[in-house]
Amino acid sequence: MKIITSAKEMQQTASDLKKQGKIIGFVPTMGFLHEGHLSLVNKSVSESDITVMSIFVNPLQFGPGEDFETYPRDMQRDQLLAEEVGVDILFTPDVTELYPVEPSVKVQAVKRTEVLCGASRPGHFDGVVTVLSILFNLVKPDKSFFGQKDAQQAAVVEGLVKSLHFPIEIIPVQTVREDDGLAKSSRNVYLSDEERQEAPVIYQSLKSSADIYLSQGIEPAIEHFQKQIAAISGEIDYVDILSYPELQEPAPEDHRLIIAAAVKFKQARLIDNVIFSTK
Ligand code: PAJ
Repeated sequence: MKIITSAKEMQQTASDLKKQGKIIGFVPTMGFLHEGHLSLVNKSVSESDITVMSIFVNPLQFGPGEDFETYPRDMQRDQLLAEEVGVDILFTPDVTELYPVEPSVKVQAVKRTEVLCGASRPGHFDGVVTVLSILFNLVKPDKSFFGQKDAQQAAVVEGLVKSLHFPIEIIPVQTVREDDGLAKSSRNVYLSDEERQEAPVIYQSLKSSADIYLSQGIEPAIEHFQKQIAAISGEIDYVDILSYPELQEPAPEDHRLIIAAAVKFKQARLIDNVIFSTK
């Protein structure tokens, strides 16, 4: 596995690979890798000639008071895991390498962002689409892989490549879960033992609320979720049922819906969702 830290070298390497006709698969991450990230790599390895993974904790997508400084980091362990799972190039620039000067242009996401995490983390998705635009220009991928755990992010990124005509196929990958259903997340390490016991209730309740939606409609479904979470120590940041990937209030003709929630524990805010069909 080759490790690249320089933006210029990454771009030159990608240009050379493209000249050789290689299909580049790209897995952008913020590191502290777990099986969710590794499943994206597996998919990329099976569908591309060269898999590039980036590890970059992007300050632009963290709001004031969020966990940028304390976001978990372990580069040594990440390098071993990335190599083991078949990453060909690990791109790990530091902040001054990606943002050498105060940017004079930033990308703004104007659709699919007024709800869910976009509403509770103002500016978050602008930071995500800005860093991904830079990374896409450096890595020049043919395909890029995104987890459905961050379903709103996958929807916003689809909008990014369509709107800015990036010649990149965005490939969604199913959420990887612990045995008890909790979605794997780098932030799970910040749960206390007791919170870790409680956290699977989020996914269980999302699934049962989706069933209640199908038989009884939106209000009983949301109420059910609220009741289930009220019984644990976490607090609901948001819960909503919307069309997917447009993220609009569901209309009768929308058959693909998402129920998505964010729940705040003491040191960790967890998100999860279930995408379901009304047909
Ligand atoms: P990060 O949270 O590290 O996630 C990197 C990728 O891994 C995302 O596509 C995310 O959806 C996926 N992922 C995380 N947990 C997963 C799970 N349990 N199952 C499947 N996939 C999972 O998302 C980001 O980083 C950043 O916003 C980034 C896109 C890198 C831009 O900075």
